[in-house]
Amino acid sequence: MPQEDPGAGPVPEGSRITVCEVGPRDGFQIEAAFIPTAKKIEIANALFASGIRHMQVTSFVSPRAVPQLADAEEVLAGIDRPEGAVVSALIPNLRGAERAAACGVDAVHTVVSASETHNLKNVNRAIDASLKDFEAVFALLDRAGVAVEGGIATAFGCPFEGVVPPGQVARIAKRYQELGARSVGLGDTTGMATPATVRAAVRAIRDEAPGLGIKLHFHNTRGVGLACVMTGLAEGVTEYDAAVGGLGGCPFAAGATGNICTEDLVYLLNESGYDTGIDLEKLIAAAKLTQEIIGRELPGQVIKSGPRLRRYDPGLTATAAG
Ligand code: COA
Ligand code: ZN
Repeated sequence: MPQEDPGAGPVPEGSRITVCEVGPRDGFQIEAAFIPTAKKIEIANALFASGIRHMQVTSFVSPRAVPQLADAEEVLAGIDRPEGAVVSALIPNLRGAERAAACGVDAVHTVVSASETHNLKNVNRAIDASLKDFEAVFALLDRAGVAVEGGIATAFGCPFEGVVPPGQVARIAKRYQELGARSVGLGDTTGMATPATVRAAVRAIRDEAPGLGIKLHFHNTRGVGLACVMTGLAEGVTEYDAAVGGLGGCPFAAGATGNICTEDLVYLLNESGYDTGIDLEKLIAAAKLTQEIIGRELPGQVIKSGPRLRRYDPGLTATAAG
């Protein structure tokens, strides 16, 4: 699970950056056609084979709310968990915590939104009711030895309410810290984050809850997801979520589109001198497998272009002269 966030200044070149793959959870949850369980397992295993060691593999939510992830237990039982992998799942409540603990996950990502309207849409509760429920959730997970990342959805804006004040995000983060979370995950549910809002939220949490780790989760809805990652790095944040191929989105948030794409993020980080431990070529192969299984072109860029030093045969490219 996440280290304590160092918090002081930009992340130095050469540092290890944790890339957490959320495609099997955030990516699959919005897909209308059921992805067969064996195919979900095949994708997760291909992602692990690229060097990914942090993955949100599924959600333990109501199967009526998210039918796509009704096979959470089977997926977790079927994947090959490499040595050192941190396998996690999203949970909204105590029932989810019980199911996750019974499957032996290493970590869970709890979910509450920073905006009341989205929390009601997403988990049918007021924010304070969710936070109250988390007391029993944290106690159970502590007994089970499962680490908790406190998820905060709509952290940079809400599609129903608009602006989400950084102080509101910091208040929830502080509550998570009091409950025993070592880190929070700030979810940009509908791609409303900008470099300025990222900086403000990260700084508000550092002021309100010093020592709490911060992970950032961006959607590329407005094309600035990777710019927000650069801001996170400038603010000392070392952990980022991304989804293979750029899949993703919340079914209970209007205007939701895909997460930042894992291959594009890994390309950026590897080329910027950071250490991800992930092999881009193998990751592109996993993305192509995912694209084939999903059955449509995915939004990622590097899946189409290949790595920077991909070479083309001049003999096969048209010449303008003549
Ligand atoms: N796993 C499986 N089933 C669950 C569950 C869980 N974690 N939590 C509740 N349920 C079941 C209950 O057993 C009950 O089933 P029943 O009607 O057969 O008895 C039913 O769901 C309703 O339970 P209740 O506690 O009243 O839930 P609710 O209707 O208020 O819905 C949530 C609350 C949180 C369960 C539901 O809104 C949900 O699953 N949301 C997740 C949304 C999501 O995944 N969003 C995308 C990620 S951000
Ligand atoms: Zn998301």
